[in-house]
Amino acid sequence: MTKNLLVRLIFLLYTLLFSIAVTATESVTETQFTQGKEKSVVCMTCHGVDGISTIDTYPNLQGQKQAYFVAALKAYKLRQRNDGLAILMHAQADVLSDKDMHDIAFYFNQVKSAPPKSDD
Ligand code: HEC
Repeated sequence: MTKNLLVRLIFLLYTLLFSIAVTATESVTETQFTQGKEKSVVCMTCHGVDGISTIDTYPNLQGQKQAYFVAALKAYKLRQRNDGLAILMHAQADVLSDKDMHDIAFYFNQVKSAPPKSDD
Protein backbone atom coordinates (compact mmCIF):
# COMPACT_ATOMS: atom_id res chain seq x y z
CA MET A 1 0.00 0.00 0.00
CA THR A 2 1.41 3.36 -0.96
CA LYS A 3 1.63 6.13 1.56
CA ASN A 4 -0.69 8.25 -0.57
CA LEU A 5 -3.44 5.64 -0.51
CA LEU A 6 -3.09 5.29 3.25
CA VAL A 7 -3.48 9.04 3.73
CA ARG A 8 -6.61 9.00 1.58
CA LEU A 9 -8.06 6.10 3.52
CA ILE A 10 -7.47 7.81 6.84
CA PHE A 11 -9.05 10.98 5.50
CA LEU A 12 -12.09 9.05 4.31
CA LEU A 13 -12.46 7.31 7.63
CA TYR A 14 -12.14 10.58 9.50
CA THR A 15 -14.83 12.22 7.33
CA LEU A 16 -17.13 9.25 7.83
CA LEU A 17 -16.72 9.24 11.61
CA PHE A 18 -17.18 12.98 11.79
CA SER A 19 -20.45 12.88 9.83
CA ILE A 20 -21.79 10.08 12.02
CA ALA A 21 -20.95 12.12 15.12
CA VAL A 22 -22.66 15.23 13.73
CA THR A 23 -25.81 13.27 12.81
CA ALA A 24 -25.99 11.71 16.27
CA THR A 25 -25.62 15.10 17.98
CA GLU A 26 -28.31 16.65 15.81
CA SER A 27 -30.88 14.00 16.62
CA VAL A 28 -30.26 14.26 20.37
CA THR A 29 -30.67 18.02 20.07
CA GLU A 30 -33.89 17.69 18.07
CA THR A 31 -35.32 15.23 20.59
CA GLN A 32 -34.64 17.56 23.50
CA PHE A 33 -36.18 20.48 21.60
CA THR A 34 -39.34 18.47 20.84
CA GLN A 35 -39.61 17.13 24.40
CA GLY A 36 -39.03 20.59 25.84
CA LYS A 37 -41.72 22.01 23.58
CA GLU A 38 -44.23 19.34 24.62
CA LYS A 39 -43.52 20.01 28.30
CA SER A 40 -43.84 23.78 27.81
CA VAL A 41 -47.46 23.89 26.66
CA VAL A 42 -48.72 25.24 29.98
CA CYS A 43 -45.84 27.77 30.20
CA MET A 44 -46.74 29.15 26.78
CA THR A 45 -50.06 30.50 28.03
CA CYS A 46 -48.13 33.17 29.95
CA HIS A 47 -44.68 33.19 28.35
CA GLY A 48 -45.77 32.81 24.70
CA VAL A 49 -45.24 29.90 22.30
CA ASP A 50 -41.91 31.41 21.22
CA GLY A 51 -40.98 32.63 24.71
CA ILE A 52 -42.09 36.19 24.06
CA SER A 53 -44.58 36.82 26.84
CA THR A 54 -48.20 37.65 26.16
CA ILE A 55 -48.52 40.08 29.09
CA ASP A 56 -46.33 43.09 29.86
CA THR A 57 -45.60 42.15 33.46
CA TYR A 58 -44.55 38.58 32.55
CA PRO A 59 -40.93 37.96 31.52
CA ASN A 60 -39.75 36.81 28.08
CA LEU A 61 -37.97 33.45 28.09
CA GLN A 62 -36.71 33.30 24.50
CA GLY A 63 -32.93 32.86 24.34
CA GLN A 64 -32.60 32.68 28.13
CA LYS A 65 -29.40 31.05 29.41
CA GLN A 66 -30.16 27.46 30.37
CA ALA A 67 -28.29 27.48 33.69
CA TYR A 68 -30.09 30.66 34.79
CA PHE A 69 -33.43 29.24 33.65
CA VAL A 70 -33.02 26.01 35.66
CA ALA A 71 -31.73 27.92 38.71
CA ALA A 72 -34.79 30.19 38.59
CA LEU A 73 -37.17 27.22 38.45
CA LYS A 74 -35.40 25.55 41.38
CA ALA A 75 -35.61 28.77 43.36
CA TYR A 76 -39.39 28.90 42.80
CA LYS A 77 -39.71 25.26 43.78
CA LEU A 78 -37.72 25.85 47.00
CA ARG A 79 -39.68 29.09 47.66
CA GLN A 80 -36.46 31.10 47.55
CA ARG A 81 -38.14 33.37 45.04
CA ASN A 82 -41.24 34.79 46.68
CA ASP A 83 -41.46 38.42 45.62
CA GLY A 84 -44.01 40.03 43.38
CA LEU A 85 -45.53 37.63 40.90
CA ALA A 86 -43.37 34.67 41.98
CA ILE A 87 -46.48 33.07 43.46
CA LEU A 88 -47.64 32.39 39.89
CA MET A 89 -44.54 30.28 39.32
CA HIS A 90 -44.58 28.19 42.51
CA ALA A 91 -47.19 25.67 41.36
CA GLN A 92 -45.58 25.59 37.90
CA ALA A 93 -42.15 24.68 39.26
CA ASP A 94 -43.52 22.19 41.82
CA VAL A 95 -44.52 19.65 39.16
CA LEU A 96 -41.25 19.75 37.19
CA SER A 97 -38.48 17.16 37.52
CA ASP A 98 -34.83 18.08 36.94
CA LYS A 99 -35.05 16.59 33.46
CA ASP A 100 -38.22 18.57 32.68
CA MET A 101 -36.47 21.78 33.75
CA HIS A 102 -33.48 21.07 31.50
CA ASP A 103 -35.66 20.11 28.51
CA ILE A 104 -37.84 23.20 28.90
CA ALA A 105 -34.77 25.42 29.40
CA PHE A 106 -33.32 23.98 26.20
CA TYR A 107 -36.52 24.67 24.25
CA PHE A 108 -36.79 28.32 25.32
CA ASN A 109 -33.06 28.84 24.77
CA GLN A 110 -33.32 27.60 21.18
CA VAL A 111 -36.78 28.71 20.05
CA LYS A 112 -37.05 31.48 17.47
CA SER A 113 -40.03 33.67 16.63
CA ALA A 114 -41.69 33.19 13.25
CA PRO A 115 -40.89 36.11 10.92
CA PRO A 116 -43.71 38.68 10.89
CA LYS A 117 -46.27 38.06 8.14
CA SER A 118 -46.60 40.78 5.53
CA ASP A 119 -50.11 41.80 4.51
CA ASP A 120 -49.50 41.82 0.75
C1 HEC B 1 -49.85 32.03 35.07
C2 HEC B 1 -48.78 32.54 34.24
C3 HEC B 1 -47.49 31.74 34.16
C4 HEC B 1 -47.33 30.42 33.80
C5 HEC B 1 -48.41 29.41 33.41
C6 HEC B 1 -45.90 30.17 33.82
N1 HEC B 1 -45.22 31.31 34.20
FE1 HEC B 1 -43.20 31.49 34.39
N2 HEC B 1 -43.43 33.35 35.13
C7 HEC B 1 -44.64 34.02 35.25
C8 HEC B 1 -44.41 35.30 35.92
C9 HEC B 1 -45.45 36.35 36.22
C10 HEC B 1 -43.03 35.35 36.22
C11 HEC B 1 -42.26 36.44 37.00
C12 HEC B 1 -42.30 36.00 38.45
C13 HEC B 1 -41.43 36.79 39.38
O1 HEC B 1 -41.66 37.98 39.54
O2 HEC B 1 -40.50 36.18 39.96
C14 HEC B 1 -42.44 34.13 35.68
C15 HEC B 1 -41.09 33.82 35.76
C16 HEC B 1 -40.51 32.73 35.17
C17 HEC B 1 -39.09 32.48 35.07
C18 HEC B 1 -37.99 33.39 35.60
C19 HEC B 1 -37.67 34.41 34.54
C20 HEC B 1 -36.53 35.33 34.92
O3 HEC B 1 -36.13 36.12 34.06
O4 HEC B 1 -36.05 35.30 36.06
C21 HEC B 1 -38.93 31.30 34.44
C22 HEC B 1 -37.61 30.62 34.11
C23 HEC B 1 -40.25 30.80 34.13
N3 HEC B 1 -41.19 31.70 34.57
C24 HEC B 1 -40.49 29.60 33.51
C25 HEC B 1 -41.76 29.05 33.37
C26 HEC B 1 -42.01 27.70 32.96
C27 HEC B 1 -40.92 26.70 32.58
C28 HEC B 1 -43.35 27.50 32.98
C29 HEC B 1 -44.12 26.25 32.66
C30 HEC B 1 -43.76 25.06 33.37
C31 HEC B 1 -43.95 28.75 33.40
N4 HEC B 1 -42.96 29.66 33.63
C32 HEC B 1 -45.32 28.96 33.52
C33 HEC B 1 -45.87 33.57 34.81
C34 HEC B 1 -46.15 32.29 34.42
